Formats: sequence, C-alpha cells, structure tokens
Amino acid sequence: MNAMTALKIATQTHHSLLEANPHMHKLMSDRLTHTDYVSLLSRMYGFYVPLETCLSQFEPSWQQCGIEFNHRRKVPLLEQDLLAGGLTLDALHQLPHCTSIPRMQSFPQAVGVLYVLEGATLGGQMISRQIALQLGLHLEREVAFFSSYRSKTGAMWKQLSVQINSYAETAFSHTDMATMLLSAQATFQTLDDWLGSNRLTRIAV
Ligand code: HEM
Repeated sequence: MNAMTALKIATQTHHSLLEANPHMHKLMSDRLTHTDYVSLLSRMYGFYVPLETCLSQFEPSWQQCGIEFNHRRKVPLLEQDLLAGGLTLDALHQLPHCTSIPRMQSFPQAVGVLYVLEGATLGGQMISRQIALQLGLHLEREVAFFSSYRSKTGAMWKQLSVQINSYAETAFSHTDMATMLLSAQATFQTLDDWLGSNRLTRIAV
C-alpha cells in the first residue's frame, strides 16, 4: 500500500470526527453568521501559524521530495480573510496560538502533518462555496483560505500525492511509515481539541 492510501485509511475516523465538530459542522449550515466565520478563521490561524513554522524547518527535506512548501502555506490566506473580515493587524497578532501541536522532530512526522493540512483544501472547495453563498462573500478576496488553490486544487493534491508516495517508497522504513500515520492522526486530534466543542470566543470586529 502506498503512503497516501495508508494516510487516508489511518485518518478516516479522525476526519469524520473533525467534520462533526460543532464549529466545522456549522460552516456548512444555513445558520452560519459572519461572526462564526471570523471566529473559526481566528482559531484556524492560531493552529496553522505554529504548524507552518515547524513545517518550514524541514525545507531541505521538502526540496528533496520536490515539494515547494512555501507555495503551500495557508497562513497568508488566513491573514487575508481575517483582515477582510474586519480584524485589525494588531488584533491579528494578538490571536492565541495553539501550544499543543503534534510533535515534529522527524521528517515522517512533518509529512503526516502536511498531508492533513493539504487534504483540507479538498473539502475546502465545497466549504468555501457554501460560506460565500451563505454570507454573501467574495470567494477569492474573503474566503481565500477555504478556497485556497481553487481550480488547481485537484492538480496540487495529485502532485503532492505523487511526491509523498515516491519519496516514502524509497526513503521511509516501516517505522517511519508508522510515525507518519500517527502524526497525521495527532494533527486531526489536536485541531479537534483546539477548536473545542464549546462556543468559540467571540472576536470583536
Ligand atoms: C466541514 C468540514 C469538512 C468537510 C465537509 C470536509 C470534506 C471533505 C471531502 C468531501 C473530502 C474528499 C474530497 C475529494 O476526495 O475530492 C475531504 C478530504 C480530506 N479532508 Fe476534509 N473536510 C472538512 C474538514 C477538513 C479539515 C478541517 C481537515 C484538516 C485540517 C480536512 C482534511 C482532509 C484530508 C486530509 C482529506 C484527504 C483524504 C484523502 O486522503 O483522500 N478536512 N474532506
């Protein structure tokens, strides 16, 4: 079994649980308000900032895989949406960051994390259209994070899949594979915990 198939199978339950998280679930509902949307983006920002900072420390390894990590960063898109959503730069910089992120001490762990963050762009296509419709927002300017690669999403995913599969096939031991899978599961789990099941803190905009 290739690495991407193993990742998909290992995280199916985790994905379902995250989808069922009340805050994620609300994104797809007709009760979504602009405040809900900005609050969720703020929380996603607090998760993605520390994760992307850690992922960027593996730049030489990304290059070896042919992965252009800088082109896959989502924090700039989150910043764009948050500013468009009414946050000031000051407020943006004061948003809390998640401190219990998955461990990234090895490259297989980083690959597990990247799989989850990139996979979010797939469901994001559907989510972004729903948000834009429900809130009357401009997809590219105000729903940039969830719409991310837009028409290029399928191609970006396919490219990543080929890169991860071929690198893992030659360079990852069985232990590395197991480490990668555990890391992807932990990424889903920590995001679910970070979002929590209670109401998100309201952000003053
Ligand atoms: C309301 C929330 C969500 C919905 C409705 C949703 C929906 C989907 C859908 C429909 C797909 C399959 C797309 C396709 O095969 O073309 C998918 C894939 C995926 N999603 Fe989500 N998603 C949600 C949230 C998230 C979040 C927050 C993350 C991670 C941060 C995530 C990670 C993934 C991953 C890793 C895959 C790829 C699975 C594979 O290996 O094929 N999803 N999602």
